[in-house]
Amino acid sequence: MYYFLNSNRRPFLLLTLISLFFIFSNCARGTLGQNISDEYHNGMVVCAYPDAAQVGLNILKKGGNAVDAAVAVQFALEVTHPEAGNIGGGGFMVFRSAKGETNTLDFREKAPAGASQNMYLDSAGNVIPGMSISTHASSGVPGSVDGMVEAHRKYGHLKWAELLQPAIDLAHNGFNITKRLANDLNRTGSEFKKLNPGGNYLSKDDGWKERDLLVQEDLAKTLEQIRDKGRDGFYDGIVADQIVDEMKDGKGLITKTDLQNYHSVWRNALIGNYKGYKVITMPPPSSGGVALLQLLQMVEKYPLSRWGFNRDSTVQLMVEAERRVYADRSKYLGDPDFYNVPVDSLLRPAYNASRMSNFTWDKATPSTSIQPGKITGYESDQTTHYSIVDRGGNAVSITTTLNNSFGSKIFVKGAGFLLNDEMDDFSSKPGVPNMFGLVGGKANSIQPNKRMLSSMTPTILEKDGKLFMVVGTPGGSTIITSVFQTILNVVEFNKSMQQAVSSKRFHHQWLPDEVDVEKGAIDSTSRAKLEQKGYKIVERGPSGRVDAILKTKWNYYEGGADPRGDDTKMGW
Ligand code: GLY
Repeated sequence: MYYFLNSNRRPFLLLTLISLFFIFSNCARGTLGQNISDEYHNGMVVCAYPDAAQVGLNILKKGGNAVDAAVAVQFALEVTHPEAGNIGGGGFMVFRSAKGETNTLDFREKAPAGASQNMYLDSAGNVIPGMSISTHASSGVPGSVDGMVEAHRKYGHLKWAELLQPAIDLAHNGFNITKRLANDLNRTGSEFKKLNPGGNYLSKDDGWKERDLLVQEDLAKTLEQIRDKGRDGFYDGIVADQIVDEMKDGKGLITKTDLQNYHSVWRNALIGNYKGYKVITMPPPSSGGVALLQLLQMVEKYPLSRWGFNRDSTVQLMVEAERRVYADRSKYLGDPDFYNVPVDSLLRPAYNASRMSNFTWDKATPSTSIQPGKITGYESDQTTHYSIVDRGGNAVSITTTLNNSFGSKIFVKGAGFLLNDEMDDFSSKPGVPNMFGLVGGKANSIQPNKRMLSSMTPTILEKDGKLFMVVGTPGGSTIITSVFQTILNVVEFNKSMQQAVSSKRFHHQWLPDEVDVEKGAIDSTSRAKLEQKGYKIVERGPSGRVDAILKTKWNYYEGGADPRGDDTKMGW
């Protein structure tokens, strides 16, 4: 007592109390061992490439909001992350304002007006292998530029030109590439050459090395057109002519009219709930939001946190839910502007409970015994994601894609950017799998001007009326299950955002009937138990690149940047 009250010792007392406070608060936040400098108050960007993250952060620091930063990042990724960053593709944005207003923007590509249901079939009615991938005819009408123009028109704060300039500078001055990008470019170089006899932009005869400077002059000129003319800088004028010329050279279908007619669409966000967390996600033509909410409903009543992360019961339950949800996806999901997608029916709790009624703990349910459910009240691997929050608390979750890595691998000559091969996301023929092994039918058949079904699942979570998480990932058909697992990793298994993102993942999509696992995702005991019950477990490479942000209860932003890629988190 004397020690604490003695006035000479009061400074020591104060210091001791301050230290105890810091130790206690860090323990309570579960962040000991994690770099506290990873947490920020004023805003954060998590995306696929360091230079693009820096662009987004600079915009936030200049007073731009989350949408401004998103626009700048989208164009910067076109330059720095050509595998998936794009102006030649499309995507989805989920937005939540600081006040809790929600909205989504659909800037998904559309089938050209000249497309038709059987365009990838031969005279015998069989799918012509490869025709919906890496050909001029595999490209949908790009939506990304219109999407960015629309997002900025509605929510942007800084001037449009200011948001384009960093990408133009990166293209014009060049940037030093990472080892991963050098490897990706070298791996694809021969295909670039084969598919672009008129000259291509990203191959180098003696091969790329880490830190080589990548300059893209033609792309810089294209971005200048978009900077100066907005939408018309892409869908009209020189760039549109270059796209149409490219199409004519390669028997592609996109016409000037298709480009002029392209418009992105604001759609009401899909809203669900998981144990008190409000889940704000993307409606059709993404299947991702519907599937994510179905999955969450199917597992909600089970004690996942007691069973533990990736333990056999946890994996079994999640796999059985995934099997049923992907079966439903194959039948019911498509472009809502063309097909009466039965969203309400699929999201009825009673329906999802009934879907799980034939699940037994003794053995795997064979996928052959699972068909898409009967609903009542019928109304009907390469992508990239970025998550951004700003100082005011606005949040943006965007997933955008060219479909394959580097899309169709076909450049628009003179314009320096890659076109998508998104038409493969349609069902070319009922029951015949696309490149992700996904099957579909009428809901996702090809029709002129229709949007192809997507798995992209940009999502925002809210807790007690406040922002909680911004999350999404690339990964084709695995997108939905990666987002599902990342949310559960935080909500059920109490992981930090970075741990949740870095954790190993598994995936089941009804067909093929196998559980795809990243190496080390499931411990040997759990694996043996699952195999004994009849689950076929197949090891695969890295799955997805989740980029996410968590708002902690201490009001910090904590990022999770996926170590599977060059993904980077930056905040202030
Ligand atoms: N291209 C992948 C997807 O949209 O799901």
